[in-house]
Parts: sequence; C-alpha cells; structure tokens
Amino acid sequence: MSASIPLSEKREWRRIVGTVGGVLLTLLIIGGIVVLAIRGANWYPNYSTLNYILTGRFAGEDFFDGFDYYQGHDVALGSARYANQADARRLNLTYASVNSAVLRVDMRDDIAMPDVRTSARIESKTVHNRGLFVFDIRHAPYGCATWSTLRISTRDLGDRGQIDVIGGVNLNNAGRQVALRTPPRGNQAILGSADWKCYSSSESDPDPVFSDREDMRGCRVTEREPMNGAAFNKRGGGVIAVEWRVEGIRAWLFQRHAVPADLSNAVKGSMTSPNVTSWGEAFADFPYTDCDYMSQFKSSKIIVNIGFCGELPGLAQAFDDESKCPGSCQQYLSSQPGSAYSEAYWEFGGFWVFQPYR
Ligand SMILES: *[C@@H]1O[C@H](CO)[C@@H](O)[C@H](O)[C@H]1NC(C)=O
Ligand SMILES: *[C@@H]1O[C@H](CO)[C@@H](O)[C@H](O)[C@H]1NC(C)=O
Repeated sequence: MSASIPLSEKREWRRIVGTVGGVLLTLLIIGGIVVLAIRGANWYPNYSTLNYILTGRFAGEDFFDGFDYYQGHDVALGSARYANQADARRLNLTYASVNSAVLRVDMRDDIAMPDVRTSARIESKTVHNRGLFVFDIRHAPYGCATWSTLRISTRDLGDRGQIDVIGGVNLNNAGRQVALRTPPRGNQAILGSADWKCYSSSESDPDPVFSDREDMRGCRVTEREPMNGAAFNKRGGGVIAVEWRVEGIRAWLFQRHAVPADLSNAVKGSMTSPNVTSWGEAFADFPYTDCDYMSQFKSSKIIVNIGFCGELPGLAQAFDDESKCPGSCQQYLSSQPGSAYSEAYWEFGGFWVFQPYR
C-alpha cells in the first residue's frame, strides 16, 4: 500500500526517523564517554580472594630441569655470551643442590674474548598466562658491570609486556624494583600516561615512576633502603610473590624473617591455598585500568640471567666514582679478573607457581 502514501510524507518520515536515530546515537556516545571518564578516574578492581593450587615447582636438585638455556649473545645490547646447558654445567655456572640453585657468571681469568664474559640465561619450559608466582631469593647478584634480571616475559624485549620482578645493575644500590613494561611498538594510541595506574605501599617510594619512554612504557615501583644488594643478601634475602590475574598485577616483598606462614607452607606442598588477602597491602599494585594493557601480558616464561654492561650498567651516571664503579663499563669488563665477580650470582631456594581454582 506504500504507493498510496504521498512521496513528500515518506520523505518526512525518513527525516524524523533519521533525526531520532541520530539523537539516540549521540546520547549513547556521550553516555559511554561519561561512564569511561568516571571509571577511569575512580575505578579500582575487586581483587577478591582466589583459591590457589600449586601447579609448578622449580626446586631441589632438578631445579634447572625446568628451564631451557638460552645460548648466544645478550639480547639487551650487553657483553655477555650465554652458555648452553652443557657448558653451563661444565663451567659450574648453574648448580643445584637439595636446598638451593645457583646461577653465576664465569669467574675464570682467561676469558676467550677480552670484553665478553660467559654467563647463563635460563627460561622456564612452561609458558604462563596468569597465576601466583613465588620466588625465594637467597642471594641477588651484584658487582660493577653486571646487569641481572628475574622477570616474567617472552623471550625478546619489545615483543609483549613484561613483569620485571627484580633486577640489579652494578652494585645494586638503585634499590629493589618491580616494574611492568609494555612493548615499544604497537598499542601506542591507548597507552598514554593517563591510562596507567600504579600504586606502592612502600614508605620510601610512595610515588611510583611512570615511564612513557618509548622502550619502557610502564610503571615502576622502587624500594630503596634497606632492601638493596649486599644488605639484602646479608640478611638471607627474601621472598617475592607476584599475583598476575585479570584484575591486575600485584607484588609483595617479604624479608626472610617476615615470610608469612601460609606462604611457606604452601610452597612446601601443603594442600592449603596461600591467602594473598592476608598479606596486607601489596608493595606494587598495577591494577587493570580502562586501557587494554593486560592483553599485552601473555605467553610468558620465567627468565633469569646475569648480563654485562649493555644499556643500563653502561650509562655514564651508573658508572662513576660515586657509584663505586670507576672508568667505563667496557673498560672494567676487559680489565678486571674473575674474582671481581664473586658476588655476581643468584641463589634461589626455589620458584613455585600456583593457579586459581574454584
Ligand atoms: C659449583 O658451584 C656450587 C655453588 O656455588 C659449589 O657449591 C660447588 O662446590 C661448585 N662445584 C665445583 C666443582 O666447583
Ligand atoms: C584470607 O585472609 C583474609 C584477611 O586476613 C580473611 O578475611 C579471610 O577470611 C581469609 N580467607 C581464608 C579462606 O582463610
């Protein structure tokens, strides 16, 4: 019957429908923006307590069986040559006993190339997409020209997001830090500084550092005294727990004498879930905010290494008289005997990985 409706009336209806539709669409868009703005300003995720079950254990004499050895040169522009498994064992760069696992650098004096020293870099065979990670650290490496890291990430920097659990540069007097980084490439449109939130319960660092440097976009929380290299080791180290879940990423640092009982029991294989909620405020808290940075964190391994020089230790301000590392990094590396690296080793009581269950 449409033929009986005059053409002008049809046009009129179309105009009305078009206008109403346009207004509705505009309202929807404005509403969406308002909701996002409110959420962006105040939104904090609900970290409800999850029940965890132990799914991965790196400890005891077979600690290193859970890892692949990365062979070759440093990927972070450093001067380490990483040994394969056979060489690492032969040179005793990796050594595990019932109680602990040690990863150290080659301390021989007659290194093959003057400014390249052999070291080890291991990557867990398991790939992770969430979980509660517990790292028992008895000794963290330090020494001029060293750059050590323990992180949860994919192999290559700039590939995906990475969780820097603990790292050390030179004498490690820059403090303990937990940081999140996203790749330098991609996602730049959504990873502006306003999209990041990071909180710290550390009294010495109430203001976490946001970095929007191209290659280190992310958040960093640094604890200064008294948790730095030599002093930390002297007290027997400590335990770091990282909870990586859909609501965000949080980390707790426990000095040796203050490790919660539920955590020590859980890593001993007790069937009781560690209760993250009972540990108090996290040292570092990176809540999931409205930008989609969590999609950047996936398929990650536990990676441990000790490198030499490269970007961070090689910085002029990191290598000066004040930092007690004189000269330049490369000079130091090519002139010092192996004994200069006697403290450049990791010693771990073990790593444990838990997954949530209902
Ligand atoms: C290898 O290193 C471990 C840990 O540092 C040490 O206890 C052990 O004696 C070393 N073994 C050899 C053969 O040097
Ligand atoms: C976990 O710890 C919180 C805070 O101490 C407590 O309220 C809660 O009951 C605990 N949950 C379990 C299952 O023990």
